[in-house]
Order: sequence, then C-alpha cells, then structure tokens
Amino acid sequence: MMHLKDFLVLCFVCICGLLSLSEGQSGSESKQRPNVLFIVIDDLRPTLGCYGEPLLRTPNVDNLASKSILFDQTFVQQAVCGPSRISFLTSRRPDTTRLYDFYSYWRVHAGNYTTLPQHFKESGYITQSVGKVFHPGIASNRSDDSPYSWTNTPYHPPTQAYKNSKVCPNRDGTLGMNIVCPVDLDEMPEKSLPDIQSSDFAVEFLKNLSQAETNQPFFLAVGFHKPHIPLKYPRAYKNLYPISEIKLAKYHTYPWRMPLVAWNPFIDLRDRDDVKNLNVNFPFGPVPESFQLLMRQSYYAATSYMDAQVGKVLSALETNGFSNNTIVTFIGDHGWSLGEHQTWSKYSLFEVAVRVPFIMYIPGVTYTKTNKDEKVFPYFNILKASKSFSAVKNVEDNSSILFTSEYSTPLHGTTNTNQGKVTALSGKEVAPNWQFEPRYKSSDFVELVDLFPTLAEAAGLPTLPLCPPNPFKTRLCTEGVSLVPLIKNITGSATDTKTGVNVEDRSTLPKSAPKDNSAFLLARNCSDVFIPATSKDFHWKSAVFSQYPRPAAVPQHNTELPHLADIRIMGYSMWTPEFHYTEWVGFNPKNYTIFWDDEYARELYLRSTDPYEINNVAVLERCFPLVEMLSEQLHQGWRGALPK
Ligand SMILES: *[C@@H]1O[C@H](CO)[C@@H](O)[C@H](O)[C@H]1NC(C)=O
Ligand SMILES: *[C@@H]1O[C@H](CO)[C@@H](O)[C@H](O)[C@H]1NC(C)=O
Ligand SMILES: *[C@@H]1O[C@H](CO)[C@@H](O)[C@H](O)[C@H]1NC(C)=O
Ligand SMILES: *[C@@H]1O[C@H](CO)[C@@H](O)[C@H](O)[C@H]1NC(C)=O
Ligand SMILES: *[C@@H]1O[C@H](CO)[C@@H](O)[C@H](O)[C@H]1NC(C)=O
Ligand SMILES: *[C@@H]1O[C@H](CO)[C@@H](O)[C@H](O)[C@H]1NC(C)=O
Ligand SMILES: *[C@@H]1O[C@H](CO)[C@@H](O)[C@H](O)[C@H]1NC(C)=O
Ligand SMILES: *[C@@H]1O[C@H](CO)[C@@H](O)[C@H](O)[C@H]1NC(C)=O
Repeated sequence: MMHLKDFLVLCFVCICGLLSLSEGQSGSESKQRPNVLFIVIDDLRPTLGCYGEPLLRTPNVDNLASKSILFDQTFVQQAVCGPSRISFLTSRRPDTTRLYDFYSYWRVHAGNYTTLPQHFKESGYITQSVGKVFHPGIASNRSDDSPYSWTNTPYHPPTQAYKNSKVCPNRDGTLGMNIVCPVDLDEMPEKSLPDIQSSDFAVEFLKNLSQAETNQPFFLAVGFHKPHIPLKYPRAYKNLYPISEIKLAKYHTYPWRMPLVAWNPFIDLRDRDDVKNLNVNFPFGPVPESFQLLMRQSYYAATSYMDAQVGKVLSALETNGFSNNTIVTFIGDHGWSLGEHQTWSKYSLFEVAVRVPFIMYIPGVTYTKTNKDEKVFPYFNILKASKSFSAVKNVEDNSSILFTSEYSTPLHGTTNTNQGKVTALSGKEVAPNWQFEPRYKSSDFVELVDLFPTLAEAAGLPTLPLCPPNPFKTRLCTEGVSLVPLIKNITGSATDTKTGVNVEDRSTLPKSAPKDNSAFLLARNCSDVFIPATSKDFHWKSAVFSQYPRPAAVPQHNTELPHLADIRIMGYSMWTPEFHYTEWVGFNPKNYTIFWDDEYARELYLRSTDPYEINNVAVLERCFPLVEMLSEQLHQGWRGALPK
C-alpha cells in the first residue's frame, strides 16, 4: 500500500517534472538511500583527458571527474576481463575466486560469495545489468549470475552478436573481420552498434524509474564494450584524431633483460584479418609502425565514442532528476598496451595492462549542486566540434570548440527518445564547463577489490568485514578495504566545496623529505640514475598487488590466457611507491598450491627512474639485497600492505 504522503510527493514530482527525487523526499522521516550508477569499461586504460592526456576528447568523463574524486593509482587484480570482473564484483582476489581463465563459476567452484549487486539487491535495491558487467558465459553461469545479483533480466545489446562479423570496410571495398574498424552506422546490421543500444536501454530504464510509483533506490550497472577490440565505432569519431597527430608509444621496444615468461605475444590481435595480413613475426613482432599508429588512432576514437555513450547515460541521470541522489563510479576492467614494450593488449603484469581509471562521484561529498537548476551532467557532443578540432592545438583555444546541450538522435544513430533540442552553443559559453581537472585527486594506492566495500559504505549498506585467511566458506567479506575514510579525508580538507577551484591534489603538495630508510638507499645503489626525492609518506595502502598465470616459461599458443588445467606458472606483482617487483613461480592447478621456491624469473623496475618499466634490474648483482627485501614483502602479500 502506498502512503498518502508518498502519493502526494509522487504527484508533486509528476507535476514539477524538473524536481529531483531527493528534494521530493527531503521531508520524509527515513532518508532514502542513494542510487548507484556503476559504469565499467572494457579494456580501458587511463587514456582520458582527466588523466592528463589532452589529446583525448573525452569531455563527458572529464566532466564527471570534475565533480568527483579521481584515483590516479588504481590497480586491477588480474589483467583480463573475466578474472578481473569476478574479482571486483566479489571483492576477492583471483586466488580466492579461483578464476584465472573464463571457465568456472565461483559459486560452485570456489565459494558461494555474495556479489556487489547482490548486496544491493538484498538491501532493497532494484538492480539492473546492462551490457557487459559480469563476464558472460560459464564464469557467470550463462546468466550474469541471475537470479542472485539482479532484480530484472540482464540486458545484452542484440548487435553484440556481430562482434566477429566481417563488417569492417577494407581499402579495396571488401569487408573484413578487422581490429581497425570505423564504420557507417547505416551499413551495420540493425543500423546500430552494441554500446549505442546499451546506452539507449539505460536511458530508458532511468526514464521509466523516474515515472514509476516506487521508492526503491536503484543499482544500475552499465558495461560498455569499447574500446575492446574490434575497434568498431562510428566513423565520425576518427576525425577527432588526425593520423598526423598520432605518435607511437613512448617506449615501443622489448625491455632490457625482461624474462620471456613476462611476454604477451598479443595472440588476440593476430586472429583479426587486418593484422593477419601483416604477417607479424611470432612471438615478438613488432607490428609495422604505420599500423601501430592506426591502432592507436582507433583506440582513441573508440574511447571518444564510449565517452559519448557515458555522456548519454549521465545526462539521463540529470534529466530524470537523479543527479543529486546517485553515486556514480566509473572504472576500466584492466589496462591495455598500445605498443608499449613492443606488445599489445592485456594479459601481462606491466603497469599499462594493470592500471585503470577509477572515478567516483558522491553527491554532497565530492560535489554539491549550487542551485537546483544547475546541470551537473550536461551532454557534451564532441562530434559537433569534429571539424574544428583538427585545427585545435591547444585546449585553451575555447572559441573553436562547440558543444550541444542535448544529445542528438541522428549523430548517435539512436532510434528513440530525445528528438528535440540540438542547440549548438558558442564555445565561450560552454567550453569552460569542460575541465580536464578532476575536482579531487588521490594518488594513494587503490585496488579494484576496494570498490565493493567502498560502495557499500558510501550508500549506507551493511559494511564488509575483512576476509579471514581461506575465506571459501565466508559469503560476505572483502579482500580490499573501504575507501570512504580516505575520501572523507581528501574531500574534507578542501575549504570551498562549491566553486570547484580548491582542488587538493596531494601528489603536488610539498612532501616531507624521504625517510632515510634502507630501501631508499638500496634503490639508489642499484639504479643507474639518481632517484629524486619524491618518496611519499603514504598513510594508505603501502603496496598493491596483481597476478597473471602462464602455461610455460616461453611464449606459446596459449600464453595469453591458459586454461586452469594448463597453468604451470603464476606471476605475482607488487607496486610500492618506488618499486614494481614480480616473481614468476611454480603453480599446481589441481590443488592451487604456489611453490615460491620453484622460481622462474624475477623482475624489478625502479618506478622513479624507470616509470615505463623498460629496464629490469632484478638480475643485476648490486640489486640483490633490495630484491631480497622486496621478495619478503611480496610473500607477505596484500594483508601486510593494508592501511594502518
Ligand atoms: C548461495 O547463496 C545464495 C544467496 O546468497 C543462496 O540463495 C543459495 O542457496 C546458496 N547456495 C548454496 C549451495 O548454499
Ligand atoms: C546455473 O545454471 C543452471 C542452469 O540454469 C542451474 O540449473 C543451476 O542451478 C545454476 N547454478 C547455481 C549455483 O545457481
Ligand atoms: C520501460 O517501460 C516500458 C513500459 O512499461 C517497457 O515496455 C520497457 O521495457 C521499459 N524499458 C526499460 C529499459 O526498462
Ligand atoms: C543536493 O543534495 C545535497 C545533499 O543531499 C543537499 O545538501 C543539497 O541541498 C541538494 N542540492 C540541490 C540543489 O538540490
Ligand atoms: C578559455 O577558457 C578558460 C577558462 O574559462 C579561460 O581561462 C581562458 O582565458 C579561455 N581562453 C581563451 C583563448 O579564450
Ligand atoms: C587527513 O589525513 C591526514 C594525515 O593522516 C591528517 O593530517 C589530516 O588531518 C586529515 N584530514 C582530514 C580532513 O581528515
Ligand atoms: C652500495 O654499493 C656499494 C658498492 O657497490 C657498497 O659498498 C655499499 O655498501 C652499498 N650500499 C648499500 C646501502 O647497500
Ligand atoms: C599439491 O600437489 C603437489 C603435487 O602433487 C604437492 O607437492 C603439494 O604438496 C600439494 N599441496 C597441498 C597443499 O596439498
């Protein structure tokens, strides 16, 4: 039964369609829990404007960041979709989900763990999955973990069925199953693409909810497929990135003294027609430089296309009155090498494969609306500016940047909703809203296992206890830590929460001199170059961890994603402020035993002098004392690195 008061509130909301839900309910006794919009992007590394890449045209994500806290040092627990997603959706590391490939369902294979959306569902939320959230197939019981995680049937865009179809135009007019795949929407099956269909569905879901007679908060998870390969996107996005402006990766050669076990031979690329035709040498390549540029161009274009879909969903929060009572998180599921180290794709322990974007908007905490008419999430139509962009060398040149305030149907190939206003505004009026700068920025170490406990605490749900060792029988626990205290610390320290000018980036604040500790001295001793005094006084996690399995010590056909039964070696990696240290050791897939003494290789990269990880110093004798110290810390693992 609906209470009279609620009924009146609802009518009020109906009449004054502009009013936000939270305002409508501000008078009710029990404060409603915030909604959650959970956005996960497939294969997205932090190649975004707000992560300091001004070449990238990602105004919608940048605008989100300008109202959010951006975590600059976020690491995933295994750099491939299935294992990474099951890890952050259960807040357990791969050694606890026991999913290193795509071929087991944790509830029957490891333990009956509660998932992030399930926790919200069991706390009274409507939970909806759109696109790729769980890894589809066996890893989520071919049902995206239904019925446990979702109230409604998960939505998958029908055009994802053409993922491997020959639809990419070649120069000679034929069609191929290519990596580089700018397309005309009109020539696509159903005249659409998966992420357009997903964003349309999410927009409609939000519209329906705003009109529904319900007080239930929602947890809407939207998983976009791009920039995962194939890099298939509407052709217009390519115009944002003239090939003359694309550069090769900074270090696109094989690292010095890198052990072969660390190498990913980018087999997933070699299967595609356009790469196949290049006859790239197995396993090391390299890919011809002209094609490297094309792939980088299309990765950027696919990222801008994804940004547009994110913008559509964010602006639907705005137009349906949810922008002031919805927590938004935005993550990539793992990184991607764009030619760094002479390799491509994920499937490794290099930072480019493991580090991801992570942005979190909490209304009232990271941003508070100054007045009720303010649009927190306007839609930025980057394509409207595509022609002038090639001339724009400097984002300061506001006058040549045009935006529209609403998204336009034809440009995005949508067939429903929002036919109306397509108002091109002059750059002077709108461009200042597009800031690259995040509102708050944390350079503290964060892992994606932290996401679940953070969202639970931020939304006021039951918090997650720390998992005991071997937590296979524990349904609800975390192998991460809630970031809420860190967020409170960082956002609470800004004096002006209204103007957005007082951004505190602790990475730029003066630091106390590095402690004269032995690790620092040892590092200096074993590096070829002087390490500048930037060592940080971390009070959060002291290290972050990731792992990757291999079937053999040398690259072979199944190196990038071995099935569980074929895994013989596990690489364990640890990043501290100064070091990236890895051990590749024996692993028994029958009983999941790690043999630390059965060592295949060690890697050590000195982050201060070698941030691109091109010089493995672990094999240099003068670094042995340091390596021994780091080895001890690695074996202690993530429990030894938790914030005190
Ligand atoms: C697993 O957990 C779910 C709820 O979290 C429960 O409904 C189900 O019965 C459990 N399955 C087993 C085999 O314990
Ligand atoms: C997985 O799906 C199958 C087929 O729908 C179903 O019979 C089985 O109960 C599911 N497993 C769990 C743990 O729910
Ligand atoms: C929105 O509501 C309409 C009418 O009830 C329904 O047909 C449609 O499936 C709903 N769409 C979504 C995305 O929930
Ligand atoms: C938005 O929500 C915050 C926190 O709930 C509240 O303090 C503020 O008044 C709201 N602002 C508007 C403009 O609705
Ligand atoms: C562009 O906008 C910024 C922010 O409002 C302003 O500081 C700058 O002067 C503008 N640049 C030009 C060339 O107008
Ligand atoms: C944040 O943490 C630092 C270091 O622990 C502390 O000095 C500072 O007072 C904290 N700030 C807030 C607002 O909690
Ligand atoms: C640094 O190396 C030198 C010789 O290479 C050695 O004498 C010295 O003890 C080393 N210092 C540390 C802190 O290990
Ligand atoms: C796992 O199996 C290996 C090989 O049979 C054996 O050496 C090891 O002791 C086993 N470990 C455990 C914990 O049972």
